[in-house]
Amino acid sequence: MTEKITINSLKKMKEIGEKIACLTSYDSSFAKLQDDAGVDMLLVGDSLGMVLQGADNTLRVKMSDMIYHSRIVSDVVKRAIIISDMPFMSYSTPRQALGNAARLIAEGGAQVVKIEGGQELFETVRLITENGIPVCGHLGLTPQSIHQIGGLGVQANTEDTAKKLVEDAISLQSAGASCIVLECVPSEVTADVSKTLNIPVIGIGAGVDCDGQVLVLYDILGLTKTQPKFSKNFLIDHNSIFDAIKDYVAEVKNASFPTSSNSYK
Ligand code: KIV
Repeated sequence: MTEKITINSLKKMKEIGEKIACLTSYDSSFAKLQDDAGVDMLLVGDSLGMVLQGADNTLRVKMSDMIYHSRIVSDVVKRAIIISDMPFMSYSTPRQALGNAARLIAEGGAQVVKIEGGQELFETVRLITENGIPVCGHLGLTPQSIHQIGGLGVQANTEDTAKKLVEDAISLQSAGASCIVLECVPSEVTADVSKTLNIPVIGIGAGVDCDGQVLVLYDILGLTKTQPKFSKNFLIDHNSIFDAIKDYVAEVKNASFPTSSNSYK
């Protein structure tokens, strides 16, 4: 029996320098393949709004969607830790956030919930974690704020915004977060955050100097129309989806992915 990954295993992996391989996951068939291929962390991401529902952004994803997809992933997964996204407007007050986080754990079967934002979420993260639910933060490009950010470009690329991102990361850790996703952030800023924090930092478009990587499953299988710079089609050199996912895990573990051409300065 393979041992289930927990937030303690993730912390241990950071301590010993073993990279954490994470992919998004939305259904039982892929989740089973991903788990068998050795993916450490499965993120039931609200990117499902785009890759499954065909929307332009993540904003229309509902709690009921997240619970349904978390459930069908968690029903088959034995080893990987499962993180579920809290959708847009499901955590606008700490009390509302706690209630919805509890549903993702109890009804969805997730082990961790992920929320987008920094210092302004201190009380929210504190309340959720004090109630025994692990939280993953999400900084840098936060797609639920797309209309406020004004696009999907690289973030924290000035001295002031980089400093603010490091402060946000420290605040999430002090509030009790168990890990943080950094999306579309210059490599140097990621390296700084990873060195500063003792919780794992998982990057997407954030360079190689962090504790693990996450990509959207449909991107690595070449199913999306335009491949983002920070991603790679792993199916192109393989005859099976299983082998492509295994290759992704291997390249994350040996730090050959991402390269500088998948990263931002
Ligand atoms: O929803 C998602 O898939 C995500 C990843 C892009 C990190 O949040």
